[in-house]
Amino acid sequence: MDRSTLVALAKRIPPLYWTAGAVRYAQFRSRLKVAENAYRLNPDRPLPPPMLRYRVHRALDEASYLEAGAYVADVIADNARAAGLVPEGLRILDFASGPGRVLSQLARRLPGNRFDGSDIDAEAIGWAREHLGNVGTFSVNRPNPPTGYADGSFDVVYSVSLFTHLDKDFQFQWLREIKRILKPGGLLITTTHGKRCLDTCTPAELDELAVNGFVFRVDHTGRFKVDGLPDFYQTTFHTEEYVRNRWAEVMPVERFVEGGVNNHQDLVVLRKA
Ligand SMILES: C[S@@+](CC[C@H](N)C(=O)[O-])C[C@H]1O[C@@H](n2cnc3c(N)ncnc32)[C@H](O)[C@@H]1O
Repeated sequence: MDRSTLVALAKRIPPLYWTAGAVRYAQFRSRLKVAENAYRLNPDRPLPPPMLRYRVHRALDEASYLEAGAYVADVIADNARAAGLVPEGLRILDFASGPGRVLSQLARRLPGNRFDGSDIDAEAIGWAREHLGNVGTFSVNRPNPPTGYADGSFDVVYSVSLFTHLDKDFQFQWLREIKRILKPGGLLITTTHGKRCLDTCTPAELDELAVNGFVFRVDHTGRFKVDGLPDFYQTTFHTEEYVRNRWAEVMPVERFVEGGVNNHQDLVVLRKA
């Protein structure tokens, strides 16, 4: 029996599912404590504390945080160039930036541009303001639009691993808001969970995806949600067809690369007309 079927079964037996959640939470807390102790021994390097890294990266080691940030920054820079942008003198927003895992590295790759970062996570944004204030301007946004940015503020908005976690209503609210704050011709570069990310899906989820092109999986909620993010932040899957057809109701989809991020998440580039 594979893991996804086991999880689906356990969900039908609430005490079992609750106990598994509690065990998982306790194991995570103990690994976090070890990482926090190591971090405290050398707090001066410019890396966010373990919990802030975990929230955006799902791992506690420092090396993979830096590697993944560098890799994704390359993907964003390459796709902006491929879309014909000359990356100089642009205003670029990392929407759902967390503590700047990608922004800190992208700013090094694309000097001569102005960077902003925004996220609901006030702790992550506080850390970024303190440590990356020379790289970009960071703001906290509310879970729902609008942001505080004026119409047509940005040449590029990129948002990595956000639409992979929001339900349909949130997605469309944010797609419309991002369109509002993009300049005409501006790009949204973002990611979805598609064909290469389906190994954890249950047969019922795969059926739903085949029919609707979209699945929103509500997994852990409440106090055993280890990332500490609000319950609306769960896991979402999209088909390419869904993205190309439905998202195009807000902005034309210019490019879709299956597995375009690390042969895992799909990469989507939309352009405001
Ligand atoms: C998987 S993390 C990715 C962070 C960052 N993009 C990166 O790749 O390092 C998802 C981020 O989305 C943020 N987030 C969730 N809902 C949001 C919303 N409505 N508006 C802005 N950020 C949100 C979370 O706080 C978290 O920092």
